[in-house]
Amino acid sequence: MHSYTITLHREGQPPAAFTVQSGQSLLVGAEADPRRPVPVGCRGGGCGLCRVRILTGDYQRGRMSRTYISARDAQQGYALACRVLPLTDMDIMPAPLTVPAPAIPPKETA
Ligand code: FES
Repeated sequence: MHSYTITLHREGQPPAAFTVQSGQSLLVGAEADPRRPVPVGCRGGGCGLCRVRILTGDYQRGRMSRTYISARDAQQGYALACRVLPLTDMDIMPAPLTVPAPAIPPKETA
């Protein structure tokens, strides 16, 4: 099985690389790394926690919530790691949410 090297660039820190197997999402590869380089949430493109910016590399995109990745964001390389399948080695950087996560309504008490 082929694998890809994903290099994470964080401001003020040395680059950190992790491996993603062919056919796995960026997030699955990140979760396998003990340093947990990308935050994990729903794993399904709906919570925005795994938002990253892709600097270089080719990839396939799955469906992503427009709440967290607008059309303009997508053009600028922003993506949700759980919905990205690398096709080459890649360079990425963290891209924290710019909108708050959806609020969970309080439970009613009887
Ligand atoms: S983990 Fe929730 S959008 Fe990726």
